Amino acid sequence: MQGFPCAPVGEGPLSEVPPAGLRKIRMHAVLIAVGGFLFGFDTGVISGALLFIKSEFDLNAFEQGSVVSVLVLGAMVGALGSGRIADRLGRRMIFGLEGLLFLFGTAMAVLSNGYWTLLLARLVLGLAVGAASATVPPYLSEIAPKEIRGRLLTLNQLMITIGILAAYLVNLLFAGSGDWRAMLGAGAIPALVMVAAALWILPESPQWLLSHGKESEARRLIASVTNDATADVVLERRTRELHDQGGDGDEAPGWRELLTPRVRPALIVGLMLAALQQFGGINTIIYYAPTIIESTGLAASNAIFYSIAIGLINLVMTLVAIRLIDRAGRRALLLVSFGTMAVTMVLLGLSFVAGWSSALSLVFMVLYIAGFAVGVGPVFWTLLGEVFPPDVRATGSSASTAVNWAANFTVSLVFLSVVAAIGEGQTFWIFAAVSLLGFWFAKRFVPETKERDYGEVDADLKARFGS
Ligand code: BGC
Repeated sequence: MQGFPCAPVGEGPLSEVPPAGLRKIRMHAVLIAVGGFLFGFDTGVISGALLFIKSEFDLNAFEQGSVVSVLVLGAMVGALGSGRIADRLGRRMIFGLEGLLFLFGTAMAVLSNGYWTLLLARLVLGLAVGAASATVPPYLSEIAPKEIRGRLLTLNQLMITIGILAAYLVNLLFAGSGDWRAMLGAGAIPALVMVAAALWILPESPQWLLSHGKESEARRLIASVTNDATADVVLERRTRELHDQGGDGDEAPGWRELLTPRVRPALIVGLMLAALQQFGGINTIIYYAPTIIESTGLAASNAIFYSIAIGLINLVMTLVAIRLIDRAGRRALLLVSFGTMAVTMVLLGLSFVAGWSSALSLVFMVLYIAGFAVGVGPVFWTLLGEVFPPDVRATGSSASTAVNWAANFTVSLVFLSVVAAIGEGQTFWIFAAVSLLGFWFAKRFVPETKERDYGEVDADLKARFGS
């Protein structure tokens, strides 16, 4: 049971939500996905800003690394803490608080006068990034009609990729003047949008209202995008489903609930995909592409150009995923994606070991990014909004997101050292092996969620886990 349930397929898609209601839902989804934009922007902007910060603040290598990675550590904590708050205070409230935290962190970064204040600012920004990354998927899932739920949830990943690209472009814009405060400060605009949207535009999630006994508000909300008669039918159905889901009725169940037999399969899927998404090596390419490209023998002078090209492919293939996800389904995209990532990583590794041309390495890298962006990138975040039972959806998303950030931190930290120890090619083969494992895991354990209510997703999950 998720979002605004619609008529079964065959009765005409989206027949319960008229076009005006759909437009409203789409507009809300775009605003919620601004949280994803800031996830991408704040992780991407630092690479360019650092070039100027390091000379102004006289930062050594360790200090530079810590300014980059403290955000990822903060994100882990933010992801862990935000789920329970989202369950207690509501999806809209946590979204507004995240906007405020983004604003506060951005102001601190812009005004920082040395290493320590900047480090603190990046930690605060990390808390906001982590909280947004964990709470945006459940929020999107709960306002979406199920026939387009995949597309709306994929908006999150699209905005992450747009955020990364926007950061590169802002870096490019201010690189001439070296104005790193302006680079970091640009993040204040989307943060303001988040706060304003939470205050004046966004609705609370009807799902959350229902599970907190606020039936009349939930009914009013559903009626505002459908009509009174439909709202009654939907409300009745959803109240029934809420009682059928098997929770203990606690308004905001805690972490322990995640380990109960009814949630465990979903938790395994969430945590495994979180780890597989990162250990497949994506951020070694996103964060280190220029370094890798340089080691193939191509000039590094065009580093920003290459980053922008990779950012563009990432964005374009995410658009393709948006078109496909509600047609082909989540599983098909995941399998094609893990498969492509494994093959391209084997070839990328070979091109280093066998000393093939640098242009060929670049082609494999681009194909790898395309493979990631069409499946593993968006589908992980989509499933976070779909596999958990409604009463622990935010908490489950929190736990999985925290593991995603922890894995991201580990890979980014050790990547260059592993390359130094065993060589580039061999390191890429490790990523290929992880992607193969991902293929097997997705084929065996990941349920299809396309056009399904929660009950059907749960039945699929339980069948796969034999429970
Ligand atoms: C991942 C990020 C990654 C981004 C690249 C996201 O799905 O979680 O770690 O940087 O995709 O587009």
